[in-house]
This record gives sequence, C-alpha cells and structure tokens, in this order.
Amino acid sequence: MEPVKIGLLGLGTVGGGTVSVLTRNAEEISRRAGRGIIISHAAAKDYDADAISGLDQVGIITDDAFAVVNDPEVAIVVELIGGYNPALELVLKAIANGKHVVTANKALIAKHGNEIFAAAQEKGVTVAFEAAVAGGIPIIKAMREGLAANQILWAAGIINGTGNFILTEMRDKGRAFEEVLKEAQALGYAEADPTFDVEGIDAAHKLTIMGSIAFGVPLQFEKTYTEGISKIQPQDVVYAGELGYRIKHLGITRKTEKGIELRVHPTLIPERRLIANVDGVMNAVVVMGDAVGPTLYYGAGAGAQPTASAVVADVIDVVRALTTDPENRVPHLAFQPNALSDVPILDMEDVETAYYLRLQAIDKPGVLARVTRILGDAGISIEAILQKEPAEGEVHVPVIFLTQRVLERNMNQALRQIEALEEINGGVMRIRVETLK
Ligand code: HSE
Repeated sequence: MEPVKIGLLGLGTVGGGTVSVLTRNAEEISRRAGRGIIISHAAAKDYDADAISGLDQVGIITDDAFAVVNDPEVAIVVELIGGYNPALELVLKAIANGKHVVTANKALIAKHGNEIFAAAQEKGVTVAFEAAVAGGIPIIKAMREGLAANQILWAAGIINGTGNFILTEMRDKGRAFEEVLKEAQALGYAEADPTFDVEGIDAAHKLTIMGSIAFGVPLQFEKTYTEGISKIQPQDVVYAGELGYRIKHLGITRKTEKGIELRVHPTLIPERRLIANVDGVMNAVVVMGDAVGPTLYYGAGAGAQPTASAVVADVIDVVRALTTDPENRVPHLAFQPNALSDVPILDMEDVETAYYLRLQAIDKPGVLARVTRILGDAGISIEAILQKEPAEGEVHVPVIFLTQRVLERNMNQALRQIEALEEINGGVMRIRVETLK
C-alpha cells in the first residue's frame, strides 16, 4: 500500500522533533499504523536544518504554508506553527480541502475549537490535538477513551512546565521569580510571550480543552478564571511548607450542582499528595472518575521530542482511521457533537474553596481579634493560624491563616473589610487551598 503523505507546517522545536521521531521510528510506526507515513511537503519561514535529524527524508520544503494545505497529495496536515494567525486560516483551509489535521496548538483549539470541529464534522475529517494539552502525556486519549465509562467528577493538573519550574526553584533554592523565569526562557520551555506561562493563559488554554472533554461542554476559554504565579512571594512558599503544603499552579475543572468550575490559579496542596511532588518542568494531571477513582498521569509537558510523541501518535490514529466512517470516529470533545451540554461555567465568586491568607498586621493587642471577628461574621471558619515574629525594627508581623471552605464571594467581602483596617498594612495575600481528596 502507498504510504500516507503528511504536510507539515512549522519546523521549529516541535516541528523538528516531529520530523526526527517520524523518520527515526518509521519502521515501528508503519507496523503500528498499517501504512508507511512520509512527510511529502513541509513549510517553514526559517529553521535550523542542521539541528533537525531526518530532514533529508522530507520531500519538498517551502516557505509557503498554503502550498502545503492546497497540495492534493497531502492527506494529513500537521500544524505546528502555533498562535492564531495564520494557523486558523490554514487549518480551516486544510479542512475545506478534505484533509485531516493534527495540531499542537492549544491557543487555537481553546479559542476557535468549536468552529474548527464544526467545519471538520461537516467535511467528515478529523482534527487531532493530543499535543495541545500536557505535551507528551496522553491525557486527551486517557480522558476521551480510557475513562469513557466514567462520570468524571473533577480533574486537576500542573499543566504549565515553566510555571512549575519557577515554583520549584523558588522553594528548593530560594531563587527569585524573575531570575528563574529568565532561565526557563533560555532553556526553551517558555512560550514566545512568557506572560502566557506566568499569568496562567497557557494553562487556561489547556484547562479549557480538558474541561470540555471531561464534561462534554463547548469550549469556553473566555469563561475560564485565570490567575498567574507572579504575585507569589518566596515567604509564601516557606509558610506553605511550614503548614505542610506545597504551592502549585493548578488548572482545576469540576462539575458541581450549580455548574462547571474552570479555574487556573496558584494552589496550596497537602505535600503528601503525589501531585504536590511533581517538580521542575514536569506536568501531571489527576482525573477523578466515579468508577475508577483517582488516576494520575505524569510526564514531560513540553520539549521537542515529548511533544512530538503526542503529535506522531495522533498522526498514527488518523492513519488507522482513514478508511472508517466519519460517524464512527472518536468525537473531538469525547461526547457526540449533538450531545454536548449547556451546563454553565461558574463565575469564580460562585466557587467554594479553602484559603491561605497572609497579612501584615501591626503587632499590638486586639488586632488579631478584629481580623478573626470579620472572618467569623462572614461565616469563615479558621483551620490554622501562624504568626511570625516581626523582623528587626519592623512594626508589622506576618500572620497566616488557613481557612475552611467558603464561597469566594464571602471571602472577597471579608478581605475588603480586613484590608480597610488601619492596623493592616497593604493587601492580603490570598491563595486557594485544595485537598484533592
Ligand atoms: N510553555 C509551555 C509550558 C509549553 O511551559 O508548559 C508547553 O505547552
């Protein structure tokens, strides 16, 4: 049988890794797929030919991406350019031309996935996007197929390697945020715009996709609550440790009676949880199914070969399904398109969590009583208090509270009152706490 011809868009980190994996493992891949797979046409603006092994086995290399998506020989377009433009136009054109698409583009899927999947459905082609979430971890496959028997109750993950690397270095080596970020950029982990990593946008793209697959709702990136790690101070990392917690930047999605939570924020997790011990650039996702219980997926969430592992697995899946009836393929968002649900995504104020609060209080009698009265009046129960000695010559002392679970709206009201007290210096540092039981 003739090999299947791939059109590859982008020869950067992931594109180069894809060429390398596809060519190096060609024999095993063809035994798995049932057909040989070759890259007949690739497009890239600029690339480092010497750094890509197997590039000599790529057919034509051009700088015209539209020539690839319009090439009648190409059956599957692999989009590894990233960003929205021209990626969206190229993907829609490939679909319109009847080609299957494999992409690692989380931003594109999170923001335009509904439109892309509708177009693919119309044309009877597949859009595969395993590499868009948690790099080399096959989390989409696990949630969409392996856990298909379950009602998924919640999923929580460390889904941004750069952020996890920064938090790990802050905790283990007491290094400053900015310095570690620069290192993550130099190591090639960070997004082109590193605010996507540190402000949680990259994780929100990935969480949006996970939430839709978990609960069968349309992609709603704009409703995902997103908070980054840039305000975390080294002292918070230390105090969390003293209380038996680690701070991790988590994406959390959960189905409640009121709606679906989609939220990305720094989170205190008990240090005995396995996911609390996932360090450096590694990613991990916990998925809780009603039948299976908790399951944990761990691996490299970024990097050339790990991400290529997911891209090539998608290519193999598409090749295997080339002759199947489009109606019988695994649905893009795990649930059949006509069975998607309109359960609302919750506003963050309607979400209930426990909290870590750090405030700077003047060291004199009665101050703590005022703060605890405000918390008590708001129905907020205190789980633990930690008060530190004031630094030499300093009138303010850090006081740390762990609270029980409370509606975020109530906590916001209480924090406004606490911050208005004249004995409290500056704002209150608030980090949500999850036990992940
Ligand atoms: N910048 C991302 C990360 C790359 O650090 O996880 C993978 O999406």
